[in-house]
Order: sequence, then C-alpha cells, then structure tokens
Amino acid sequence: MTISANIKIAVLGLGHVGLPTALGLAELGWPVVGADDDQAKARRIAQGEAPFYEPGMAELLQRQLGSGRFQVAGSVPDAVQQGTILFVCVGTPLGADGRVDLSQVESVARTIARNLNGYKLIVEKSTTPVRTAEQFHRTIARYSNGQHPFDVAVNPEFLREGTALQDFFHPDRVVLGVATPEARQMLLQIYQPLLERMAASGNGSAASKGSSPLMVTDLNTAELIKHSANAFLALKISFINLIADFCEATGADVTEVARGIGMDPRIGPAFLRAGAGYGGYCLPKDLKAFVRIAEEHGVDFSLLNEVGRINDARAERIVQRLRHATWVIKGKTVAVWGLAFKPHTDDVRDAPSLRIVSRLREEGASLRLHDPWAMEQFRRDFPDQPPRLVYCPSPENAAEGADALVILTEWPEYLKADLARLRESMAAPIIVDGRNLMDPAAVRALGFDYYGIGRP
Ligand code: UDX
Repeated sequence: MTISANIKIAVLGLGHVGLPTALGLAELGWPVVGADDDQAKARRIAQGEAPFYEPGMAELLQRQLGSGRFQVAGSVPDAVQQGTILFVCVGTPLGADGRVDLSQVESVARTIARNLNGYKLIVEKSTTPVRTAEQFHRTIARYSNGQHPFDVAVNPEFLREGTALQDFFHPDRVVLGVATPEARQMLLQIYQPLLERMAASGNGSAASKGSSPLMVTDLNTAELIKHSANAFLALKISFINLIADFCEATGADVTEVARGIGMDPRIGPAFLRAGAGYGGYCLPKDLKAFVRIAEEHGVDFSLLNEVGRINDARAERIVQRLRHATWVIKGKTVAVWGLAFKPHTDDVRDAPSLRIVSRLREEGASLRLHDPWAMEQFRRDFPDQPPRLVYCPSPENAAEGADALVILTEWPEYLKADLARLRESMAAPIIVDGRNLMDPAAVRALGFDYYGIGRP
C-alpha cells in the first residue's frame, strides 16, 4: 500500500507510551512529529538521546531521526498544527481523591482546539476512564471556533515497559474505538503497514494464528477494554500470590500449581508468577481508577479492592520472610538485588522495592543496593547515606559482607552470579528470593539458606 501523501502524525507526549508509539509509526513509514511540554526532555530526544531505558529504543530513535521520518516539534501547538492525525499520549496520574487526574488530557484538548487549522483525527492513546473520549470531544468543540471539523477516536496502548517495541510491532491486538466512518478509515490506513509486516513475517501472535489482531469498537468499549485488561492482569497476580501463601502453609509448590493451571487454555500460563507483587505506573493506578469509575457508574467492584489489598501486603510478607531468616533485622546488612518494578526497565514507579527498602530502613538494617539500570531513579527517593544505604557497582559487590540477600527484580544477569564465591563473600548465606528467580535445590546445595515464595 502507498502512504497517503497528506497524512502526518503528531504524537503529543513523549513518555513511555508516546515515544515508542511515535518511533514505531515512523518505522512503519509514516511521517511523525513528536512534542512534549517538558522542553528539556523534548530537546534530549531531538538530539537522539532516549530519556529512559527501553531495549532497542535508543537505536530506533537515532535511526528515525536520521531518516527524517521522526522529528521533534518546538512546542505542542506547533505539532498540533503540523499533524493530521494526533495521538494523545499525555500522563493520566491518579489524583489525591482516587480519581484519575485528567488535567493533562483536558489541557491538551484545549491546546488542540485553539490550534485546529483543518480536519484532524484526534486519537486518545493514554489510558483513560471510560467516557473520557466523550468529554474530550465536548471540550475541543467548546474551545474551538467551529470552523474545522474533527473526530475523536480511542486506540488504547497495551505496550509493556521493557518490551514496548516488541509489543508495538507484534501486538496481540490493535483496538480501534471510533465514532465515525472517517475515523475508522484513517486508523485502518495507519495500521495497514503493521498488518502487512505481521502477515509477511507471520510472527505476530494473532497473525501467526491466522487471525487479524484488529478490533473495531465504539469509544466507550475501547476505553473499557484497556482498563479491564489491566484490572484482570492484576487479579491474576494477586490470585497466584494468595495461592503462594496457601502453598507455604501446606508444603505445596506454587510454580508447579501455576504450571498446572496455566496449561488450561481457559486460564493460560502468563501472569501467574508469584512474588513481591505488581508495581509500575499502570497496574496499581489503573486498578484503583477502575474501581472508582465503576463506583461512579453504580457498579460495586470491591473484588478489585481486595486485589489491591493483597498486593499491598506482599512487601510486608518479604520483610517477614527476612525476619524469619535472620531472626533480628536490626543491625544487619542486607543486600538488595533489583530495584526496578520489573526487568528490562529503569522505572521504579510504584515498585515493590520502594516499600520494602523503606520498611527495612525502619527496621534498622543497613542496605547495599544494586540494579543494572534503575539505581539512578531509585536514588531520587533514597539518596546515598553511607554506611546505612549504599549503591553498589555490581551484584557481587552488593552481597559482600551482607547478612542476607533479597532479590526483588528477576534480572536475568543475576542468574550468572558465581554463587559459590558469593557464599564466601557474604557474612551469612541467606537468600530471600522475592521473584523465585533461583533454582532452590541448586542454591541450597551450595550451602545457602534459601527462601523463595510459595515453594517448599
Ligand atoms: C502493563 C500491561 O501489561 C500493559 O499491557 C499496559 O500497556 C501497561 O501496563 P507494565 O506496567 O509494563 O505493563 O508491566 P507488566 O508486564 O504488566 O508487569 C506489571 C507488574 O506485575 C510488574 O511489577 C511485574 O513484576 C508484576 N508481575 C507480572 C508479577 O508479579 N507476576 C506476573 O506473573 C507478571
């Protein structure tokens, strides 16, 4: 298919959603202009510097800046004026009242309204509560002079941090929430090159099963799909974490239970890893927001409050495990491997490590922290305070002289550590594995006291 000459995509907001989306669309062949209110961030991106760690992104950024298909606009209004299709990727944090704070979305709607200079399709990509697109449409109509027609569509993102580009190019599904035939047509055109790539390579998960990953719905359904998906994922994790507690009480093995139930295609094997609990910018926030918006529409979703409560309790469970292992935490030196909320990202937002490190400090432990990518981010909340809190250049260095090692992120490189040497360098050979990363039998054979999650 040929790229329509008059289409230019503007991506408004260049964070964890916006930047991979902008670069992915440019890689598909579309001319893309990106913009961010954070001028310093926009300048870094324009100079080819990725503002956060995401595998493959720095290379793709440089390639697309080089190809000229991706450019950074001087301002959001400038990008709005240049674009025919605007992808809105601004932040939707949780407000103090438990509702999603939609001020950035509302503000961008007014900026768009003031800068309409012809027909535009405005696509909401940020995760927003159901019925936000309706309000978004109303706001643009209210603040624009009515001279230029526009459409609003919803195209929720399902990108996971750490695999954002892989997810962009091989999506399980692409959900298009539209209200008009024009919006439908334009979005189908935008994603056509992606579908062709997937069909040609045959390795998109939906495409490889011979089905199209495209799904066209109305606006509210598309918004609900996104929120329901994240709520369900959180539910799966809290479910398996409770099963882990049950396994600990009965001597069963949660990894085997997960394998056994996951073989049932109605359940599926993914998101059944028990451990320190879920974190990140999306699952915790989306779950709370979902319960709140459901309540506002008269639906009691207290089921999901329990999911959140179970997750919040995971941090204390890790601390208890450490107390059980060391007898007394006060005065001990504890090494922590992994600060990011999951591997392959430097993101620590709502990471279990934040709560656990905070609790260990309260208990009077000295901490030796390591993460391959996330130490800089973590430092913002926990500055260096030697000897009570130090950041270490390697996992081995963190473990030196420690009375116990706690694993909070399952970085694959931690599996490469020489455990025999590690044991020699530690003051006491205790491992609390909050992600079930290690093989218990192998670690115990080396003389460690090993405590996993939900494993005998
Ligand atoms: C999530 C959704 O998966 C993605 O579709 C959406 O677009 C954004 O939110 P992300 O926040 O990147 O993605 O992380 P995800 O991979 O979902 O993991 C969330 C948390 O759950 C992590 O802390 C992870 O360690 C934890 N987790 C995941 C478990 O504890 N057990 C599991 O089995 C899976």
